[in-house]
Amino acid sequence: MIVLGIETSCDETAVALVREGREVLASVVASQVELHARFGGVVPEVASRRHLEAINPCVDRLLEQAGLGLADIGGIAVTNRPGLVGSLLVGVSAAKAYAFALGLPLVGVHHIEGHIYANLLRTDEGGPELRFPFVCLVASGGHSDLVLAEGHGRLTLLGRTRDDAPGEALDKIARLLGLPQPGGKEIDRVAREHRGPKVDFPVADLGESLDFSFSGVKTAVARYVAQLTPEELNEQRGAIAAGFEEAIVKPLVANTLRAAEECGVQRVAVGGGVAANTLLREKLSALAAERGLELWIPPRWLCTDNAAMIAAAGHYRLARGEDDGLALDTFATAPLSAERAAEEGRAAR
Ligand code: KG4
Ligand code: ZN
Repeated sequence: MIVLGIETSCDETAVALVREGREVLASVVASQVELHARFGGVVPEVASRRHLEAINPCVDRLLEQAGLGLADIGGIAVTNRPGLVGSLLVGVSAAKAYAFALGLPLVGVHHIEGHIYANLLRTDEGGPELRFPFVCLVASGGHSDLVLAEGHGRLTLLGRTRDDAPGEALDKIARLLGLPQPGGKEIDRVAREHRGPKVDFPVADLGESLDFSFSGVKTAVARYVAQLTPEELNEQRGAIAAGFEEAIVKPLVANTLRAAEECGVQRVAVGGGVAANTLLREKLSALAAERGLELWIPPRWLCTDNAAMIAAAGHYRLARGEDDGLALDTFATAPLSAERAAEEGRAAR
C-alpha cells in the first residue's frame, strides 16, 4: 500500500508518498522560514494562510516527483495533533478532501509519533530495520520526550521537558547571539567552526528523573550575553554557542542512555529537529557503541519536520483497516498515547 502523508502542524507544508511504511517514494517540504523571519517567530495566522496556498501545489509536485497518480494512493495519514490548530486544520481538511474524493481511508497521526517512526523508514545508507522494543528521544522545537516504544501504538512516556523544548532554547539563544533562524542549525554550524575553549554553562540536575529542564541554562546564557559589549560578543560567539550546545546535548544523551538501561532495551533511536545536531549525533553514536547499544539516527532531512514520517506512522493503522473518517478533529495539545491519556485521567481523579 502507498500512503499519502500530510504534515502542516507548524511552519512546514509537507507531503510524502511512502510504500509499506518503509520506502519513501517522494517527499516535498515547503518551508515558511523566510516568511516568518521578520517577525522573529512563527505567526500562526500567517502560517495557516500559507499552508492553504501551498498544500495542493505540493501534492501535485509530489505526484510528479514520484511519477504516480492519485489512483495509486491506498490511504491517507495526516498530522492532527499537537500543533497550531489553524495550521493543522489546513492539512486535515486537505486530507479529508482527498479521502472523500478518492474514497480512501484516513487516519490522524500524533506529530511526536511521526518523529519516532522516521526511524522505521528505509534510508539510502541501508542498515537493519528497527524492531520493538526501543527507547526513542524526540527533541524538537516544541518537544523533548523520551519514549519507550514496545509495539505499534504502544508508547510510554518516560520523561519530558519541564519547561522549554531544546530547539526552542537553541532558537532563542541564537537570536541573542545575532544568528538567523532556525537557530539550532546556526548554533550547530557556529559551534563546529569554533576552535578553543567553550564557555561553561550549568546543566540542570534532576536526579533520578528522566525529565529535562532547559530554562535555567537558557537564562544563564542570556545573563552572560547581556553583560558583554558588542565587541566581546563578536569575539565570544563561537565559545558561547559551543558551550550552550554542550549544555543542551549533555542531558539529552545522558537520559536517553539511562532510559535504555532502566528499561532493559538494547535499541535506541532519536528524532525531531534537534536530532539533526552534529554534537548530539556524535556523542550518542560514541556512547551507544561504548555500551553495546544499537543506535538508529535518521538522516537530517527525516529528523526535521516532514510528511514521510507521518505516512510511516499512519501506515500500520491503515494496514489494519482502521479509518478515522471525515469526523477527524484537530488538537493543539494531545498526550502521546492512549495509555498516557488513561494515566492522566487516573491522576486527575
Ligand atoms: O522537529 P522540528 O523540525 O519541528 C518541531 O516539531 O519543532 O524541529 C525544529 C527545531 C528548531 O528549534 C531548530 O532550531 C532545531 O530543530 N534544529 C536543530 C538543528 N536543525 C534544526 N537544532 C540543533 N542542531 C541542528 N542541526
Ligand atoms: Zn516536529
